[in-house]
Amino acid sequence: MVIPVRKITDFNPGNRAFIKEETSMSQSKEIILTAKDLSKTFSNESVQQHVLKNLNLNVYKGDFTVVMGNSGSGKSTLLYALSGMDKPTLGTITYFVNDPGQKDRSDKNDGSRGIEISKFSNDRLALFRRAHAGFVFQQNYLNESMSALDNVMISGLLRTKDRKALALKAKELLARVEISENDHRKFPSQLSGGQQQRVAVVRGVINDPEILFADEPTGALNSQNTTNVLDILSDLNTRGQSIVMVTHTIRAAERGNRIIYLADGVIADELDLGEYAGDYKDEANPAREKAIARHRMLKDFLQEQGW
Ligand SMILES: Nc1ncnc2c1ncn2[C@@H]1O[C@H](COP(=O)(O)OP(=O)(O)OP(=O)(O)O)[C@@H](O)[C@H]1O
Ligand SMILES: [Mg+2]
Repeated sequence: MVIPVRKITDFNPGNRAFIKEETSMSQSKEIILTAKDLSKTFSNESVQQHVLKNLNLNVYKGDFTVVMGNSGSGKSTLLYALSGMDKPTLGTITYFVNDPGQKDRSDKNDGSRGIEISKFSNDRLALFRRAHAGFVFQQNYLNESMSALDNVMISGLLRTKDRKALALKAKELLARVEISENDHRKFPSQLSGGQQQRVAVVRGVINDPEILFADEPTGALNSQNTTNVLDILSDLNTRGQSIVMVTHTIRAAERGNRIIYLADGVIADELDLGEYAGDYKDEANPAREKAIARHRMLKDFLQEQGW
């Protein structure tokens, strides 16, 4: 199923004539992963809760995809399923990434070859994630028995043996999110919630993963650190990295180029915002007019969703 996407230049809530053009534009983008008929049901005692319901979604290479929706609408569940952190109850998740080690590629009807991860064993899933994905979780899941720096290093060492270069990169990224050298040796329990979250963001991006999944990565941060973390994500995205981020804030969502709105376990609607155009409040922003237009469009879209 191809979901029509709205485009900023043609935006007019009453006019859907642009849908055809936009749909063909989406199709010209390269897909990095496809979720097909995804369902996730949690069973608690005798009660079944259908959290994701036959959800279909393409994620495109190089996109900064943002997932929004009410609390409990299934955003984290969707992220866990897409990233292979948890298995869907039904449906498939197929990645289109370079993975010479994988033998069970399947031919897709568009001629491309994908790797269907939904039936992988837990071990294979872990290897696959390690090779392709990065994560920043809603709960930061730092290793409590390791220092802040080691939490980042251990993730980096899964991909490189060059300890020196890795340490330099880790320290540079930690500095960017205002974790001082003094704090590198601290354990997570000795850091504030915001500091822990920033360490977790650095850990998630240290390997330049092909696709980064971030679940409310700025949820615990003050204004300056929200900007710092979002700037890191925008930089990565500018360099071509695919990102899927869940957020509750317009400010974070504006960094994305595509907004997906989740309601009642399905994608209720989506919006093509175009590239990030900088801070709409910044008078020195040369693209401020575009930034203001994006901001308004996003607000209108969310209002339409009853957000
Ligand atoms: N492991 C689980 N076992 C049982 N129910 C679960 C589990 N994980 C999530 N749920 C339920 O699924 C629903 C969706 O949860 P999810 O965490 O995906 O929501 P969310 O959209 O990320 O919400 P929030 O914005 O508050 O983070 C909730 O009702 C939650 O209670
Ligand atoms: Mg959540």
